Amino acid sequence: MSDRYGVFGNPVGHSRSPAIHAAFAAACHQDLVYEAILAPLDGFAASVRAFVEAGGCGANVTLPFKPEACRLATRLTSRARLAGAVNTLSFDGQEWLGDNTDGAGLLRDLAHNLGCPIAGMRVLLLGAGGAARGVLGPLLEAGPRRLVIANRTEARAHELAARMASAGEVSGCSHAQLAGQSFDLLINATSASLAGAPLPLPDGLFASGSLAYDMMYGDGQTPFLRLAGRCGAARLADGLGMLVEQAAEAFCLWRGVRPATAPVLAMLRSAGRDTGGQ
Ligand code: ATR
Repeated sequence: MSDRYGVFGNPVGHSRSPAIHAAFAAACHQDLVYEAILAPLDGFAASVRAFVEAGGCGANVTLPFKPEACRLATRLTSRARLAGAVNTLSFDGQEWLGDNTDGAGLLRDLAHNLGCPIAGMRVLLLGAGGAARGVLGPLLEAGPRRLVIANRTEARAHELAARMASAGEVSGCSHAQLAGQSFDLLINATSASLAGAPLPLPDGLFASGSLAYDMMYGDGQTPFLRLAGRCGAARLADGLGMLVEQAAEAFCLWRGVRPATAPVLAMLRSAGRDTGGQ
């Protein structure tokens, strides 16, 4: 019987993870099946338990269950503990190992696919919710010259910066307090794109040669990338590369082989896609 994996979410029907993992498995000659599993909003733990009892070997976790998966794991990697969220579970007997591959996926997309290493860069992270927290530790570890978190609710930016102080130098501010500053890499980790809302950002934020990166992806450009293009960002990237890279990191953890990501990313780009996350 093939080894079983899956992604738990609610909703989960839009998920590209089954197609991504099926492509990885075929390319790496791994005998596995990977399915999308809709867990009830109040029944995530029971769904995962049933999956493990039926022989499940590992699982990805997407919205809204990442913090709950972090609480359910019997052991956490340090990056999952710092993120306060788990997107990858590995089951071994009674042990549920919780990991978070989102930050590593973002960094790998930036460095390998987009030729944008973080070291020495001025980085702005927009948003202070779960998505921002999930990538902040690996971003800080990569050694930016500056890292600023800006958020609509300023207090949340300060709280997140304080929580991450042990991982590196980071500060928090409001959107308005960004006036007069400019950055080489601007990452949108807010959910504003989902609502089609533009962020109220001051002029002059995008340094010449800067890269604007939206962790969201969708058909056509996101509102953030449209704004960035108008405001002088030299390069625009959506989060589809991060999606594929975080999946590759999870696949590697489960199977011990790192799949090539470029063909899978090309497949997704040519197939078109819906707005979404994991
Ligand atoms: P997620 O887990 O997707 O990060 P979240 O924890 O609810 O979701 O966080 C959403 C983030 O997007 C927050 O930083 C939120 O800002 P607030 O803390 O002020 O709520 C931000 N966000 C959502 N809609 C936004 C909008 N229209 N403009 C600016 N920021 C927005």
